[in-house]
Amino acid sequence: MNKTTVATILEKKQKNNKLTMLTCYDYIMAKLISKDVDMLLVGDSLGNVQLGYENTIPVTIENIIYHTKAVKRGNSGALIVADMPFMSYEADIKSAVINAGRIIKEGRAQVVKIEGGSEIIKQVQAIVNAKIPVMGHLGLTPQAINKFGEFKVQGRNKEDALKLINDAKLLQEAGACAIVLEAIPEDLAKEITKTLTIPTIGIGAGRYCDGQVLVVYDMLGMFVDFTPKFVKKYANVGQIIQEAVKNYIDEVKEGKFPEEGNIYK
Ligand code: KIV
Repeated sequence: MNKTTVATILEKKQKNNKLTMLTCYDYIMAKLISKDVDMLLVGDSLGNVQLGYENTIPVTIENIIYHTKAVKRGNSGALIVADMPFMSYEADIKSAVINAGRIIKEGRAQVVKIEGGSEIIKQVQAIVNAKIPVMGHLGLTPQAINKFGEFKVQGRNKEDALKLINDAKLLQEAGACAIVLEAIPEDLAKEITKTLTIPTIGIGAGRYCDGQVLVVYDMLGMFVDFTPKFVKKYANVGQIIQEAVKNYIDEVKEGKFPEEGNIYK
């Protein structure tokens, strides 16, 4: 069994082997995908794709723990990374460490992911000091939607780009084991990736990151409410589900299901 750890993702960067990460929120999906992908991310995107919220703001630490436990039970070998939801780490260092600890101890994730740079660096240091690996998240950080006003590409002007480079360095110095770069220009992601010794995982950050991550329902063609430019659909599972359900309904109505083989004698 392929077993990914924080050490193996660092090793992959050194060997120039690309890393793969997909979001995952439940047992069945973890069973299906965890033996092939390096990392499973129990992202707070579960607010959108599992719970139907318009953004990630309402997601709670209990939501993350509940879904991480299910993913853990279905996991075979992937490194489980779980998001620290909005307001579980911003207010103070102590509550950040306690909440990160709950995600590891109760949810059984191996790494916590935190959005932000210089403004949350003390929390990152304290969590790492508590022996909890941290993945950073820079660029378009969806928990800052009310500050941004809209979801748009970040780091397009020089000042913003320099802040992102500096934040990436600060996260590395604070002990982060990897950084997600979301929705930033490819050249900037390339420069950050070259500068760091820890891996960068891109989503809408171009080809030169050390790895890529996508929301699993986006790449499977199951979440169709909104499709960002950076998403590639590898299947149309949503359509397959709808067709299967339609066939089932037709067969029940026509008396074709259950068949001989589905009946107890
Ligand atoms: O919550 C999430 O799914 C994420 C990815 C978009 C990186 O943070």
